[in-house]
Amino acid sequence: MAFDIAMIKKVYEELPGRIAAARNLVNRPLTLTEKILYAHLSDELPGEAFARGNSYVNFAPDRVAMQDATAQMALLQFMQAGKPRVAVPSTVHCDHLIQAKTGAQEDLNRAIDTNREVYDFLSSVSRKYGIGFWKPGGGIIHQVVLENYAFPGGMMIGTDSHTPNAGGLGMVAIGVGGADACDVMAGMPWELKFPRLIGIKLTGKMNGWTSAKDVILKVAGILTVKGGTGAIIEYFGEGAESLSATGKGTICNMGAEVGATTSIFSYDSRMADYLRATDRADIASLAEGIAEHLTGDPEVYANPENYFDQVIEIDLSELEPHVNGPFTPDLAWPISKLAQVVKEHNWPAKLEVGLIGSCTNSSYEDISRAASVAKQAVSKNLKVRSEYTVTPGSEMVRYTVDRDGFLDIFKEMGGVVLANACGPCIGQWARHSDDPDRKNSIITSFNRNFAKRNDGNPNTHAFVASPEIVTALAIAGDLTFNPITDTLVNENGEQVKLDEPQGIEFPAKGFAVEDNGYVAPAADGSGQEVAVKPDSDRLQLLEGFKPWKGTDLNGLKLLIKAKGKCTTDHISMAGPWLKYRGHLDNISNNMLIGAINFFNEKSDSVKNQLTGEYGPVPAVQRAYKAAGVGTVVVGDENYGEGSSREHAAMEPRHLGVLAILVKSFARIHETNLKKQGMLAITFSDPADYDKVQEDDTIDITGLTDFAPNKQLTVILNHRDGSKDEFPVNHTYNEQQIEWFKAGSALNLIKQKQ
Ligand code: F3S
Repeated sequence: MAFDIAMIKKVYEELPGRIAAARNLVNRPLTLTEKILYAHLSDELPGEAFARGNSYVNFAPDRVAMQDATAQMALLQFMQAGKPRVAVPSTVHCDHLIQAKTGAQEDLNRAIDTNREVYDFLSSVSRKYGIGFWKPGGGIIHQVVLENYAFPGGMMIGTDSHTPNAGGLGMVAIGVGGADACDVMAGMPWELKFPRLIGIKLTGKMNGWTSAKDVILKVAGILTVKGGTGAIIEYFGEGAESLSATGKGTICNMGAEVGATTSIFSYDSRMADYLRATDRADIASLAEGIAEHLTGDPEVYANPENYFDQVIEIDLSELEPHVNGPFTPDLAWPISKLAQVVKEHNWPAKLEVGLIGSCTNSSYEDISRAASVAKQAVSKNLKVRSEYTVTPGSEMVRYTVDRDGFLDIFKEMGGVVLANACGPCIGQWARHSDDPDRKNSIITSFNRNFAKRNDGNPNTHAFVASPEIVTALAIAGDLTFNPITDTLVNENGEQVKLDEPQGIEFPAKGFAVEDNGYVAPAADGSGQEVAVKPDSDRLQLLEGFKPWKGTDLNGLKLLIKAKGKCTTDHISMAGPWLKYRGHLDNISNNMLIGAINFFNEKSDSVKNQLTGEYGPVPAVQRAYKAAGVGTVVVGDENYGEGSSREHAAMEPRHLGVLAILVKSFARIHETNLKKQGMLAITFSDPADYDKVQEDDTIDITGLTDFAPNKQLTVILNHRDGSKDEFPVNHTYNEQQIEWFKAGSALNLIKQKQ
């Protein structure tokens, strides 16, 4: 058994009491989201209710899931904590590193070969520290989590933005960076700004070609890619109960596309059915016992405008199938309007490829509905005009749909079955094209469609729809085809119409699998070696950062005064560097190469004060490090915005930068810097930024009395002998000052072992 029933029992035992206390505190009925959040505080209930969109709150999630790209640094860091085992149930899923090229088995074999050392590391480290390991081919993280680990009323974090998929089973599931995963596995609390709440009331019942995917495609059009930022979306209403659990998962998955922190549905009979069908009847029975706590209070749903910050209503009976895109998931087109807008915008109407599956849409129900359409290509003697691929979400789904004949149907219509992995969804797709410069269109049942996302080609116009619509349009080979109203001409020259898709929620013979890809950890992993080759260029064991020396920081050199926007992408670029995610020294060669140097307006060109010459930022910093000289990075407003990528904090720390002094920080990056033991400070007067000169030597004083709310002092020693001295602010609390002194949060945990 992969899931941890004892942990779930404990959560359910405590849930009613915690919710009652929270209701008492806020003194009104509670939404489901609030119930789960208040039940997962890592500290005692506060004296007053949290302010939505304002209060920073420490949580204690029940689970952690990691995909293989982000797991590498998370686990390398976790090893630094000196813990014998992870503090909460955790899993690793090998899904992101498999490139789709020719077909499932060959692609999988090639990936195992190319990524062998990464897989060996992840499997050995998982075995050692009590982490469940899902082998390459086992499936895509979010589908595997839904099938095995998600449970109503739980809270989890995952190192991938579509972690909210587990909201389909009533879980608050949030995507985070590797450093957050590491903290929770090491037993530390996890911080989140208490979210705003968006309520979406679903009425009516879907019919015909409309599916759960169309709910979120419609929502994306309403909220746009930013509308859910800082909010949790809670779905309710009789329409919600009419959706299968996996359909709910699809909707929650794509809540990431409107920027939502996560999305969630209340526990209902459809979730119970799914739990039973996936061998978790015991969880369903436990959930039945506390069902009233696994949904919002009745008054909340009766008068939602009094309890949510925003309320949207969607009538499923009226909802049309949607096709969203190109280039952004919030360009939402009801299928009846699509042909017209395609012509108006001159988007290529010819569809070159249709792709179904991914973590978003590869349930048994999805595959069966798509297959019911695909079958008609053969039975109605239609020539399939587009290429077609199928990416199953898990080995369990793949095995079952193969047994039940669906994969044969896809193959008969000319489809290629790819490995159970992210593949084309993440750009891991060696797409063959006779002319990559040609404007072209593809349609997928995935979630994201930004330029270059699927095949790296900026000329590809990617549209997103449900698997059944993708299949119908792939048969037609035409983006302007509307299967509800239009006919196709078959090989006999006859006009034929496609019948509505027919779905089967659960396999009549039950789910089956031979090897689901799961490897349980060792009961006692203490003897397990972690596999990292010393000469590897993809993986490197970390060494703890040096503790604070106990003195002020004197004689530091200015490394760079960054001008304007400096996001985590400017600090630690993605793209080709991703392959070094598990090798801190190698990936540090991208440190700040995207930042603009204030003094020469160039990127990756800064003055080495020791030689007077200009060079790339990482090389200059390495020269300072070799000479034993500490440095300071100066930045503008909102420094470190963007992602939670911990590399952006670890790289400067690794290369010997001692302080980051900016006008203001993006909060997540500021916390990441603190965790890595970096001194993160802000100008108390932003105009002092202008006093920083290219040849400055910098002192930072006041550290021997480092205390919360107490300013430090910066002295700029200019080359001409003049000086500027000014106070600087910081937001360190007592605990974070301890991190700074120990050299990092993980060093502190280790010291306390
Ligand atoms: Fe993978 Fe695409 Fe989902 S990259 S995790 S299949 S969003």
